[in-house]
Amino acid sequence: MPKPQFHVIVCTNSRPPGHPRGSCAEKGSQEVLMQFFEELQQRNLFEKVLVTGSTCTGPCMLGPTVIVYPDGVWYQRVRREDVPTMVTEHLMQGKPVERLRLPDEVWG
Ligand code: FES
Repeated sequence: MPKPQFHVIVCTNSRPPGHPRGSCAEKGSQEVLMQFFEELQQRNLFEKVLVTGSTCTGPCMLGPTVIVYPDGVWYQRVRREDVPTMVTEHLMQGKPVERLRLPDEVWG
């Protein structure tokens, strides 16, 4: 198996209902993760891109969060419908999807 060119991390963390921080899971991150797998399969990108779910990555209120390495690009409020564009533009063409980027100011 060749070393992947990209690692996509989808926060799939969940918390109990009513938790003040909420979670990416309650906002649909599992569907986002599944859509990434579907897109990779359809486009035969499994050797180029590794996709994994993760526990909390920090900015829960802006989830679901997705991170793409080695670029260090963070995405916010990702929906299942956004995934085909992310795969085409970022993972295939090398251009991050600006409208979904998590702004650096979040890290204050
Ligand atoms: S639960 Fe996803 S960033 Fe915290």
